Amino acid sequence: MRPKAGVGVLGLVLLVVLIALALTNWSRRPAAARPSAQPINFPHNVHVGTYKIDCQYCHADARRSDYAGLPSVTRCMGCHKITAADRPEIKKLADYAAKGQPIPWVRVYKVPEYVYFPHKAHLRAGLKCQQCHGPVETMTTVGADTGPQLPNDFLRLVGLRPTGPPLSMGWCIECHREQNRTRDMHAPLDCVTCHH
Ligand code: HEC
Ligand code: HEC
Ligand code: HEC
Ligand code: HEC
Ligand code: HEC
Repeated sequence: MRPKAGVGVLGLVLLVVLIALALTNWSRRPAAARPSAQPINFPHNVHVGTYKIDCQYCHADARRSDYAGLPSVTRCMGCHKITAADRPEIKKLADYAAKGQPIPWVRVYKVPEYVYFPHKAHLRAGLKCQQCHGPVETMTTVGADTGPQLPNDFLRLVGLRPTGPPLSMGWCIECHREQNRTRDMHAPLDCVTCHH
């Protein structure tokens, strides 16, 4: 009896693992954010979560242009000339500043070239950054939480890791439909507005 029960339990564990893998694989969509090694380990959770710096203090173009934009080295140094100046990551920052070089941040969220996405229109419609990018204020690295890595998949499966949504066409259109229905918006559903 005993060996048989052992096999049964092992089989069940294997089955659960396989189902988990299948589910997480199925939930991956094409244009989702990928984790990336950034040149400086910039922690959103410290800046937004702990120190309550507004998203648009750093991503200042969001409300007036297609792009949200990234802050300049000078903006970072406004605080970091003094704040935490002795830490290794801040020394890297000071190096870029001294050389007058921009920081080569790795892009995380990107829709294909043939898609038109303007931030301005979405912010004017009163949407929050988090509706599209997830809980950035809790992230140590933007995008890493949504990356296709086994530990992330498991944490997500048990609900311990919040994710940002995938940037698929279905996702855009679903929200446009819902906003038009519930808030009387005029978000486009025709092909040429998003593809031109
Ligand atoms: C408004 C002020 C402010 C601005 C602007 C700012 N930071 Fe910070 N940053 C802080 C504070 C405060 C901390 C927490 C320091 C501490 O732990 O004592 C911090 C922490 C950090 C850390 C973690 C340091 C460590 O190893 O503990 C990094 C890296 C960092 N900032 C990079 C940046 C970069 C890059 C920019 C520009 C994109 C930037 N910061 C802009 C205030 C700012
Ligand atoms: C102190 C400056 C600062 C603040 C405040 C800040 N960010 Fe950022 N953000 C950055 C920097 C620097 C990067 C580039 C490095 C990275 O991707 O982590 C970045 C990257 C991002 C990205 C990924 C961009 C890409 O490449 O696709 C998103 C999305 C984002 N931030 C959203 C937010 C949101 C939402 C908030 C407010 C909840 C916020 N940020 C607050 C500095 C900031
Ligand atoms: C309606 C959904 C939506 C909202 C709301 C939104 N974003 Fe984005 N964001 C996107 C998409 C889609 C992309 C990729 C755009 C592209 O590739 O052209 C993106 C790209 C970015 C980027 C990297 C490229 C760039 O534009 O500089 C940053 C930084 C960013 N968002 C920050 C923010 C911040 C900060 C807010 C709130 C002030 C915000 N986003 C609100 C959907 C959104
Ligand atoms: C969270 C909801 C939401 C998501 C997700 C979303 N949108 Fe929108 N979108 C809106 C709303 C709301 C408007 C504004 C409608 C209005 O002003 O009546 C809008 C407007 C637009 C417009 C018209 C801009 C203008 O100047 O009139 C374009 C283009 C657009 N969205 C593209 C996209 C694309 C591409 C994506 C996916 C990558 C996307 N949207 C994802 C809610 C969303
Ligand atoms: C609200 C914005 C929006 C509208 C409206 C829209 N699309 Fe898209 N479309 C997207 C985005 C975003 C992508 C990229 C999605 C991705 O890579 O997963 C895309 C991708 C595509 C692709 C490439 C798909 C692939 O798998 O490579 C085709 C083809 C396409 N759209 C056709 C259309 C047609 C036809 C219509 C009209 C019936 C339409 N789209 C309306 C946002 C939109």
